Amino acid sequence: MADTAVYLRDYQPFAHCVDQVELTFRLAPNSTRVSARLHMRPNPAREGRHDLRLDGEGLRLIALMLDGRPLDATPDDNGLTIPAADLPGGPFVLETEVEIAPEANTALEGLYMSNGMYCTQCEAEGFRKITFYPDRPDVMARFRVRVEGDAPVLLSNGNPMGAGPGWAEWDDPWPKPAYLFALVAGDLRAHGDTYTTASGRQVALNIWVRPGDEHRCQWGMDSIKRSMEWDERVYGREYDLDVFNIVAVDDFNMGAMENKGLNIFNSKCVLATPETMTDDEFARIEGIIAHEYFHNWTGNRITCRDWFQLCLKEGLTVYRDQQFSGDLRGHAVKRIEDVLALRARQFREDQGPLAHPVRPDSFVEINNFYTATVYEKGAEIIGMLKLLVGDDGYQRALDLYFNRHDGQAATIEDWLKVFEDATGRDLSQFSRWYFEAGTPRVKVYEAWSPGAEGGVYTLTLAQENPPTPDQPTKGAKVIPVAVGLLNPNGDEVVPTTVLELTKPVESFRFEGLATRPVPSILRGFSAPVVLEHDISTETRAFLLAHDTDPFNRWEAGRALSKEVLAAMVAQGAPVSRHWLSGLARLVRDESLDPAFRALAMRLPSEDDMAATLADAGHVPDPAAIHDARGRMSDALAAELAPELPGLREAMATPGPFSAEAGPAGRRALANACLALQTRLDGGTAARAAFDAATNMTDRLSALVSLLTVGQGRSQLAAFEHDWQGDRLVMDKWFSVQVLHALPDALVDTVNRLTARPDFTMGNPNRFRAVMGALSANHAGFHHASGAAYRLLADWLIRLDAKNPQTAARMSTAFETWRRYDAGRQERIRAELSRIAQTPGLSRDLAEMVGRMLG
Ligand code: PHE
Ligand code: ZN
Repeated sequence: MADTAVYLRDYQPFAHCVDQVELTFRLAPNSTRVSARLHMRPNPAREGRHDLRLDGEGLRLIALMLDGRPLDATPDDNGLTIPAADLPGGPFVLETEVEIAPEANTALEGLYMSNGMYCTQCEAEGFRKITFYPDRPDVMARFRVRVEGDAPVLLSNGNPMGAGPGWAEWDDPWPKPAYLFALVAGDLRAHGDTYTTASGRQVALNIWVRPGDEHRCQWGMDSIKRSMEWDERVYGREYDLDVFNIVAVDDFNMGAMENKGLNIFNSKCVLATPETMTDDEFARIEGIIAHEYFHNWTGNRITCRDWFQLCLKEGLTVYRDQQFSGDLRGHAVKRIEDVLALRARQFREDQGPLAHPVRPDSFVEINNFYTATVYEKGAEIIGMLKLLVGDDGYQRALDLYFNRHDGQAATIEDWLKVFEDATGRDLSQFSRWYFEAGTPRVKVYEAWSPGAEGGVYTLTLAQENPPTPDQPTKGAKVIPVAVGLLNPNGDEVVPTTVLELTKPVESFRFEGLATRPVPSILRGFSAPVVLEHDISTETRAFLLAHDTDPFNRWEAGRALSKEVLAAMVAQGAPVSRHWLSGLARLVRDESLDPAFRALAMRLPSEDDMAATLADAGHVPDPAAIHDARGRMSDALAAELAPELPGLREAMATPGPFSAEAGPAGRRALANACLALQTRLDGGTAARAAFDAATNMTDRLSALVSLLTVGQGRSQLAAFEHDWQGDRLVMDKWFSVQVLHALPDALVDTVNRLTARPDFTMGNPNRFRAVMGALSANHAGFHHASGAAYRLLADWLIRLDAKNPQTAARMSTAFETWRRYDAGRQERIRAELSRIAQTPGLSRDLAEMVGRMLG
């Protein structure tokens, strides 16, 4: 494996420049012809004369010409080399014609077909499956594209230059790397609108969908306009083409793709109606549309020099979409949701065999590095930078970034330099966040000395940076720790202050305090670290009741829940009264945002509990965790029993459906109450709620409440009857059954579902709906028999032969294997080895299992 790795230290600029690309596509499902004219010249940054190396995979070369004369060259497995001796010393034009077969493309990378429609996915290295080209992000060129085919709609990047029956031409005036190329052709309908930018440019907006889906575009269109307005107002960034197109595609490996002027979306991430999508999905769609739109500046206008710099565009763009969603939907709730996701995915990754730096320095398959670490930890680093340099410093740095690097392919060093130049701050120590993997741990020690002039309170913070694969030791990080102090009445005596921890151990003094304060540490989750603070249950309950920082108030409840649950699992302790009454008080508190109350009611996931127990030195028992968590829900249900119906009624959202944060939060609280009620009433309320539901949020919540207590058969049948023709809705139907199957019934449930004719490996959404839920059902997946491990491995091997990228991503289900007991470890290790030994295994999946086996 090591011999096929790519290393950052080997980077060299490409030996040639591409000034202009002219592409002609003659579309046919099994024999698409792609003609390319590349206007090239030697790169002045590279001395001497060099061979021209073009990437190309699975292309049948039909013709090759240099400056109009036929050239003789034979492609190898991954490209084509034209010897320096054959090249003129100055500019030249290279022409190629190749044939490709989109219909045979099941990897969904390059040009492929989805439901009769042609579409492309080129990031990261898919363009080489379309034509011979220097497929690397630092080669930026202008593209002119002609598409010929019998589809009514023919789209590509940039501005439309003309169209007639069977053809269309597009021109993108902005130089771009090949990974941002896109083409779509098919029988599509547009949901159109317009937007006028701050400087008065009229932009035509379109969401293109299959006939029949036109009515599912309104929310997506609203989200585009909100994103455009926000990026102008907050970052001063305007859109830069005459049209902005989004296409919804059913078969897509990821969520969405920011191709210049022609974003391509997994239909699940753009199409929404109240009847088909839940509130969480509405919020997610809004965030993803913003994310892809924001890439136009952070990713497209300024791109990455090489794929090691992926976090340059992804970390920043995630940070921007999080800011946007916070502005629109409330920062407190958004921050809690983001931290929940960060811990569930990124901490899990960073503390296991797949840990890697936000900016890695080697990889085998770049598709395996579109990770929570690159994206979410990449965004956290930017949040820390902003805390350290302040809002003004951040704004100056970003203005400088756009001014200095527009039109360039940049690096993390460039990014940090911009902050140093704009603020005068030395970021050399801070840069370790990018180059070192692992989740730092911060221990807290307190000291108090009373005095006549007021007491002195001292906080001592000690950081530890645990070893990760290939990085046994690492230096101290710069960790911004936001702290506030409360007095015993719950009043804030020291407002939020950012302490900068830069050494292994450091103390911070607060003077002139009347009484010993209660600290609220790591407010707003100011750094992606594990905080270790030994405090009493009473103090946690106090913070849950009084903390003025909403994130930390939630966090206090969370920590308390975990402590209680851990004691229940490890020592068979009863449910704690402190926890019950504290949480119940918060749920009843009408001064609090319903969305916040709903989040506080959500118990830690079983996977989270397994991680917490393992972290504390226990071997987690999945069945015991499942059981204890159920008892905890039962106790909360009993505690709140008399109030549940009234609370649900008070949270009703009469009138037309709105997916905005206010009503969505009310539904979230009402449905959290319904889930508890269902544990008490035998399902009466949930059955009625299912029948009465007028939107997917309420309907699915009622169904899940029933499934959780082992009911819901007839509701599943009714759901299937109503939605059997709808792929996106049926994905939910598949998924909830697997997710909520009893541990003993999981494998049978999956086998029953995969035997259905509407289960297909060809559609990543459907595959993930079942197999993603299989591994997310913690107690079932980790059933002592090991049957679920075997089942997942079987399916990953099968999928790998068709779609390596998605198979490799889903193999991360096994990344936590070293947490568990010897028997489970042995079973998982055996499955990983079996996958590793499969003949013809993809590079993608081979790299992942190799790293997991260590
Ligand atoms: N660049 C896309 C995004 O973050 C993600 C993506 C990567 C999509 C690779 C497809 C393939 O928005
Ligand atoms: Zn992105």
